[in-house]
Amino acid sequence: MTTIGILGAGQLGRMLALAGYRLGMNFRFFDPAADSSAGQLAPHIAAAYDDWAALEKFAHGLDVVTYEFENIPVETARFLEKFVPVYPPSAALEKSQDRLVEKSFFRSLGVPTPPFAEVNSRADLDNAVRVVGIPSVLKTRRMGYDGKGQVVISAESEVEPAWEKLKGTPLILESFILFDRELSLIGARNQAGHVVFYPLAENTHQDGILRRTVAPAHRRPQTGSLITYRQTSQSLAEVYMRGLMQSLNYVGVLALELFQAGDQLYANEMAPRVHNSGHWTIDGAVTSQFENHVRALAGLPLGSGHPLGVSAMLNLIGKIPDVASILDVDGAHLHVYGKSPRPGRKVGHVTVLAGTHDEIFHKIEELEELVGK
Ligand SMILES: Nc1ncnc2c1ncn2[C@@H]1O[C@H](COP(=O)(O)OP(=O)(O)O)[C@@H](O)[C@H]1O
Ligand SMILES: [Mg+2]
Repeated sequence: MTTIGILGAGQLGRMLALAGYRLGMNFRFFDPAADSSAGQLAPHIAAAYDDWAALEKFAHGLDVVTYEFENIPVETARFLEKFVPVYPPSAALEKSQDRLVEKSFFRSLGVPTPPFAEVNSRADLDNAVRVVGIPSVLKTRRMGYDGKGQVVISAESEVEPAWEKLKGTPLILESFILFDRELSLIGARNQAGHVVFYPLAENTHQDGILRRTVAPAHRRPQTGSLITYRQTSQSLAEVYMRGLMQSLNYVGVLALELFQAGDQLYANEMAPRVHNSGHWTIDGAVTSQFENHVRALAGLPLGSGHPLGVSAMLNLIGKIPDVASILDVDGAHLHVYGKSPRPGRKVGHVTVLAGTHDEIFHKIEELEELVGK
């Protein structure tokens, strides 16, 4: 049976293994951190991403390699490609590591993005502010996650402090979108080129960290027809993702983060991997994103992404609350990552499934009493 090697041994790797074990697959992890979430489940080689000898040893006997986060060096993926197929393709990794390259790639395929400009000097920043305007957000092009490496500029007087904070590394200035909501689309493409999509999910962030996902995305129906509205955004987002996948000859799960303002969808970033806003699919979809990712890697048919109802997912950040009281909430499932608790660290999540959006918002309130907001 297929043996999958995973670069990165955090919770995403762990959930990939949990899904793959059901299909009789085997797993092996590679992560510089010795103490890991996924290492509790499968062999874990702890070495640096440029330790070529260790990587070669890791690759030996694997059928396919994947990764659970997009900041692993592209050279690491390219090196492993000499021994074993690596999916998603390293081109996807390359594009998603640099916000400027990524947004230019979106544009080249007709996928709308917030207006943006490259910033390499103080003079560039002044020009960029003239082009992009205020409010805007200055971001490092590389290595940002969970809102790290970005500063919002909401007045002229905040330009200089933003520069002082981030200077010294290549930057991008983006227009700050006053969005109605944040959405994400998750899709999977297998080696035969078949594609499945999940319904758009609606995401709430706090301090740059995802707190909560509701899927399918919901809009309170004061304005226009809910059904038409939902279908339009869904099909538009699917068109965008199909274009990205085809262009990259993609294999695996892809996530696309979007801002929705009125009828407009703007692509914010993509993640060439399973995504936090897709955790609800474990308990709330016909096939989870984790299972579809490993199916795609193994050259197997994909399963439906159809939702079983309305789902919510709440991240557990910093600590695991009282387990019994969470499990006492009807329809709730707890997922614990086996990580030592630390402020700001994702240590688990809770999902809950209901019949309607009204019901799901009640469940969220009930759960937020237990896990905090
Ligand atoms: N151009 C923008 N306009 C409005 N909000 C933004 C913009 N860029 C980022 N944000 C907010 O910050 C969050 C994190 O930014 P993102 O670019 O997705 O970086 P990360 O790699 O940290 O996820 C977004 O989910 C959104 O809430
Ligand atoms: Mg993001």
